[in-house]
Amino acid sequence: MNAQTMWPEIIQGGMGVGISSPKLANVVSKHGQLGVVSGTAVALTMARKLMDGDLDGSIRDALSEFPYPEIAHEIIAKYHQTTPSDASKDKYKGVPMPSLDQSSALTDLMVVANFVEVVLAKKGHQGKVGINLLEKLQIPTLPSLYGAMLAGVDFVLMGAGIPVRIPSVLTELSNHHDTYLPVKIADDAEHEPTLAYFSPTAFSRGKTLPKINRPKFLAIVSSATLAIHLNRSQLGSPDGFVIETPIAGGHNAPPRGKMQLSETGEPIYGDKDIIDIKAIAQIGLPFYLAGGFGTHEQFLYAKSLGAQGVQVGTAFAFCEESGMDPELKKQIIAEIKHGQSKVKTDPLASPTGFPFKVVEAEHTNGLQEVYETRKRICDIGYLREPYRKADGKIGYRCPSEPESDYMAKGGKIEETIGRKCLCNGLVATLGLGQKRRQGAIERAIVTAGDDLKYILRYLRPGEHSYKAIDVLKILLGQRFKTAY
Ligand SMILES: Cc1cc2nc3c(=O)[nH]c(=O)nc-3n(C[C@H](O)[C@H](O)[C@H](O)COP(=O)(O)O)c2cc1C
Repeated sequence: MNAQTMWPEIIQGGMGVGISSPKLANVVSKHGQLGVVSGTAVALTMARKLMDGDLDGSIRDALSEFPYPEIAHEIIAKYHQTTPSDASKDKYKGVPMPSLDQSSALTDLMVVANFVEVVLAKKGHQGKVGINLLEKLQIPTLPSLYGAMLAGVDFVLMGAGIPVRIPSVLTELSNHHDTYLPVKIADDAEHEPTLAYFSPTAFSRGKTLPKINRPKFLAIVSSATLAIHLNRSQLGSPDGFVIETPIAGGHNAPPRGKMQLSETGEPIYGDKDIIDIKAIAQIGLPFYLAGGFGTHEQFLYAKSLGAQGVQVGTAFAFCEESGMDPELKKQIIAEIKHGQSKVKTDPLASPTGFPFKVVEAEHTNGLQEVYETRKRICDIGYLREPYRKADGKIGYRCPSEPESDYMAKGGKIEETIGRKCLCNGLVATLGLGQKRRQGAIERAIVTAGDDLKYILRYLRPGEHSYKAIDVLKILLGQRFKTAY
């Protein structure tokens, strides 16, 4: 953390679902940089962890700090299993999918799950903690932000869309005012904008509202034009920016202009996609560079361009403290050692339509031939798109659901081609995959940036794993002897 400005120099990027775990964010924040948890789908993952027994008790500990104990008790009563489910036999019970008319119980779960992530990330230190959300996933946004703010989150980071209303939403929520977000509805030319609402007073059932601070907002963007547009918005400017290049892990901005694909079927980025860093620096707000900034040299380079620092994801995703299933981490690190692991920028995999980086790791759904053995099913639903039905009501569809269901909802068959169920795949990456028939378990889909092949640089000689502190030391130039 820069002592003069209290802005961090390193942001450990938010990585959904659950990869940037509270444990990871906690250790990064404890060392004076910005640890970020991901708020994406944590209502579902917290419910599944409770079904698995919450063996270390950490979730129930955090829940005991929730300002409205009766809401926390209801959630424990509903999901916590004292005899944890037998991984080989029991299916996780369903958690409702997000929708505009979702039950208050699901809204409660979203608020509480985001609260828990931030409380755990903040435990035992005075450092700052951030939360990351995706703009595209609009329905859970308001309850997620409010839950994180009840836990005292210091920064909100949002990209994957144009988060223009977030500065004013944060101000409204910090004053416990009712607020709303316009939600994009497909096939909806004639209607008024549809709004997702959240009311702090309704949520608290009229009880006393605790004092909460307004977190700083960093918009994650991939162009100077968007940064300038957000900065000039009448709805308020972000407090800073994360500027992400297309080699970053997770979702990437599509190339400008018509999408052209390489021989391997990956989007080709060209001159038009080069980010005008000078124009961003001229805005005058703190900014961070992200996407391939995992070394001290890159960190210094970012600083030389006027950046406050860097945001790094891939290096942290595979460290011991990340939320990824430890066996999967071990497997991928071993594959890299053998020169086998490859990251593909898949233009189709994500139902959002954004390019998405997929690690082609053995036995995972990142491999096309493995994915093709999966029977399509949609039962998590975070990436469903609301659409207007013929009768005027709102329905929900996802191009990764069974093709016939999607088409029955007015979706086009060509939209379904190559789409993957990221909801189930990303949740399985944490070791929380749903059990299917005949003992099958949903397989993981792992995402990482192009830097994946370089993560061996964080390993000490003779070691097969590394810790978040090793990444921080390399980034800050406090070198130790590495194995590769
Ligand atoms: C496993 C993984 C998951 C990610 N998930 C998200 C996400 O949910 N939201 C987001 O804004 N960025 C996400 N990212 C991007 C990171 O926050 C960060 O900006 C990026 O990883 C930086 O580039 P690098 O991977 O080259 O370090 C993810 C990255 C990884 C590696």
